[in-house]
Amino acid sequence: MSNTTFTMIKPDAIEANNHGFILEKILASGFKIIAMKMVLLSKYQAKKFYKIHDGKPFYKDLIDFITRGPVIVAVLNKKNAVEDFRSLIGATDPNKAENGTIRKLFAKSVGENAIHGSDSDDNAKIESSFHFSTNEIFNET
Ligand code: CMP
Repeated sequence: MSNTTFTMIKPDAIEANNHGFILEKILASGFKIIAMKMVLLSKYQAKKFYKIHDGKPFYKDLIDFITRGPVIVAVLNKKNAVEDFRSLIGATDPNKAENGTIRKLFAKSVGENAIHGSDSDDNAKIESSFHFSTNEIFNET
């Protein structure tokens, strides 16, 4: 079990000015932010990040959506980070997410679902290093 996970607050949440509330919820839930930045992903970067979904019916919409405005990418630290963070954000489809989860509170649909969280320790490492170099991640905090 690793203590870090990766998250991305998506354009819909930033457009709705919900990123402050979301970050507050993350911090209040015991996660430490050990790297963070706001970036506008290029189509090339988005396709690389979401390569695993290439060929799925929602892939084009996903790439268009995630590149239509800036996202906030961050690396988070907490014991049991991946699992705890997935509980905090709730199911991919906000209609199926538990009450009180970030997606239940802030997501509009399965496509525009406010936030991403890594689904495994391996993917947390891959996704963190996609966006941050090691000297940008403050592991000792
Ligand atoms: P995320 O956790 O970022 O991982 C992949 C994303 O693809 C997911 O959140 C959704 O935004 C999107 N996605 C997954 N399933 C569907 C779907 N059935 N229809 C539209 N978008 C989807």
